[in-house]
Amino acid sequence: MPERTALILGSGFTDLVAASDALVAETDYGVPSSAVHRVSLSGQAVLALARHGDAHSLPPHRINYRANIAALRDAGATAIIALNTVGVIGRIRAPGQIAVPDQVVDYTWGREHTFFTGNGAGVEHLEFTEPFATAIRRRVLAAAAAAGVDCLDGGVYAATQGPRLETAAEVDRLERDGADYIGMTAMPEAALAAEAGIDYVCVALIVNRAAGRGDQPIHADLEASSATARGTAMRLLEQYYADNEQST
Ligand code: HPA
Repeated sequence: MPERTALILGSGFTDLVAASDALVAETDYGVPSSAVHRVSLSGQAVLALARHGDAHSLPPHRINYRANIAALRDAGATAIIALNTVGVIGRIRAPGQIAVPDQVVDYTWGREHTFFTGNGAGVEHLEFTEPFATAIRRRVLAAAAAAGVDCLDGGVYAATQGPRLETAAEVDRLERDGADYIGMTAMPEAALAAEAGIDYVCVALIVNRAAGRGDQPIHADLEASSATARGTAMRLLEQYYADNEQST
């Protein structure tokens, strides 16, 4: 099967799907956050889904992650580049930069997090040692290098429940747990993609310093850095789709 890399767009990207073709809008798992759109990047028709809805109205804990992954699978996606905004814990990495994490710790709860519900199909335990697919991580990092984009390779993504941000003590705990970035959406998304047999990579847009770690209020960080991180991610995506063949 030819490779077909879809996008899951996070905060700050919903304008990309406005006025585009819409495909799958209903799945066996309910209604996805948005229809699967076809957007144009580097002259290619790219499948794209807006994680928070076309009007950016769905908070992280209300997203139907199963329907989103099922919709992309039904539309023919074999791989997914997920754009996820994050706060950064350590001082080496700064808001405005992007990163491709290589590990996850999941603190979310109460989300429909698996396609493997038993129901007569037997018990399945997904191997999830490497939560992000190696081949597509390499392609994304190669695209970053080719585009001259500063993109950090690796790090641990802590998935928190939200929608509130963390306390300073929670960030200290996440750091003790080994986390580098904190976001609210890569889980259960990455695990569901793996269950569905779709390669998944997270491109983390660092938009703030984590709670208690910055010199200014978090929302000031967000305002100052979101556009820069988005611009960097767009350059990476343009290069990725220029370099990697899609079927139409
Ligand atoms: N914490 C959790 N999720 C986030 C953050 C954060 O600091 N920034 C963007 N998404």
